Formats: sequence, C-alpha cells, structure tokens
Amino acid sequence: MIRPAATADIEFISALQNRPDYLSMIAADHPDQLRSYRTDPSKHLLIFQIDDTPAGFLLLSIGGSQGVVELRRCALVKPGHGLGTLMLSELKHHVFRTLEAHRLWFDVAADNTRARRAYEKAGFVCEGALRHHWKRRSGDYADLALYGMLRDEYDA
Ligand SMILES: CC(C)(COP(=O)(O)OP(=O)(O)OC[C@H]1O[C@@H](n2cnc3c(N)ncnc32)[C@H](O)[C@@H]1OP(=O)(O)O)[C@@H](O)C(=O)NCCC(=O)NCCS
Repeated sequence: MIRPAATADIEFISALQNRPDYLSMIAADHPDQLRSYRTDPSKHLLIFQIDDTPAGFLLLSIGGSQGVVELRRCALVKPGHGLGTLMLSELKHHVFRTLEAHRLWFDVAADNTRARRAYEKAGFVCEGALRHHWKRRSGDYADLALYGMLRDEYDA
C-alpha cells in the first residue's frame, strides 16, 4: 500500500536516496527538504509498504488545477524483483483515482534500463528525450527520457 510519509520515515527515505548503487539513478534531497515536503500541499511524499514494512518511497509534484502530476523521485529497497510493478500500479491508482489527475509524467536517466523497463511494462509511453539535461552527483551529464500516461489511457 501507499501512505503519506511520516517524520519517522525521513531517515529511511534519505538513506535510500543516498545508496551508492543509486547515485547515477536518482537525485537526493536534504533531510530538511524532505521534512518540508510533508507540509507542502504541492508535494506528496509517499511510502510504499508491504506488511507494515517500508519497501520504497515516491515523491510527487502536484500541478495545482492543471491536473498534471509529476513523479519526481521513486526508489525501492529491493529492486529487480517485481515490486516496482506493484508500486507503479498503486501509484497510478493514487494519481488517477484518488487525485483524479489528467496526466502523470516523469523523466528518467536514459541509461537506467531497469527503471525504463518497469515503466514501459506499467504502460507509460516514452514521449521524448532531453540531451545532457541532468547533472548527476558524479558530475557527468545524463540524457533523460520523458515518460507519461493520460487518464484515458489508464481507464482504457
Ligand atoms: C525503478 C524501480 C522502482 C523499478 O522497480 P523494480 O522492482 O526494479 O522493477 P520490476 O522488477 O518490476 O521490473 C524491472 C524490469 O526490468 C528488468 N531488468 C532488471 N534489471 C535490468 C537491467 N539491468 N537492464 C534491463 N532490464 C532490467 C527486469 O527483468 C524487469 O522486467 P521483466 O519483468 O520484463 O523481466 C527500482 O528498480 C528502483 O528502485 N531502482 C533504483 C532507483 C531508480 O532507478 N529509480 C527510478 C528513478 S526515475
């Protein structure tokens, strides 16, 4: 299930963002920034949990009255075991049913093949690319692939 992150979850999220094997895949927020998201109405900081145990997190940026939601970050404790498919299914339900959004989109490092495979399996459409758009923590510039899904596509 997906639930709003509590203050007690900040350490878990921060540790996940700063995992050495995720350095080239996701950006990291300062813990103070993570705490501020909890009270920011334009952000949804969420925990994906299985049997009461946090298994991952998601950060959404809510586009006000436009109904356009951006997935800003997501990561699992145990990648590559099919949990992403479950987490993305719950994410889509949250965005299109609970928030009744019109569109969900995000970018991903073009060389993050595992994540791209999980997104494509979940039905997201690759909508384009941005060359050298993200300066990774390692200092190199990554190409980004853009993905999106419309509510009509979710409903179909
Ligand atoms: C992105 C993420 C949430 C996806 O969840 P996941 O549980 O790993 O995804 P799944 O296991 O459901 O699906 C992964 C797919 O990629 C495949 N895959 C695994 N490793 C791969 C690799 N190195 N190259 C290509 N495909 C790969 C898997 O076989 C699976 O496809 P299949 O079901 O057709 O066999 C997770 O990998 C993660 O937390 N990654 C680290 C952080 C990250 O990259 N976040 C995304 C930033 S945009």
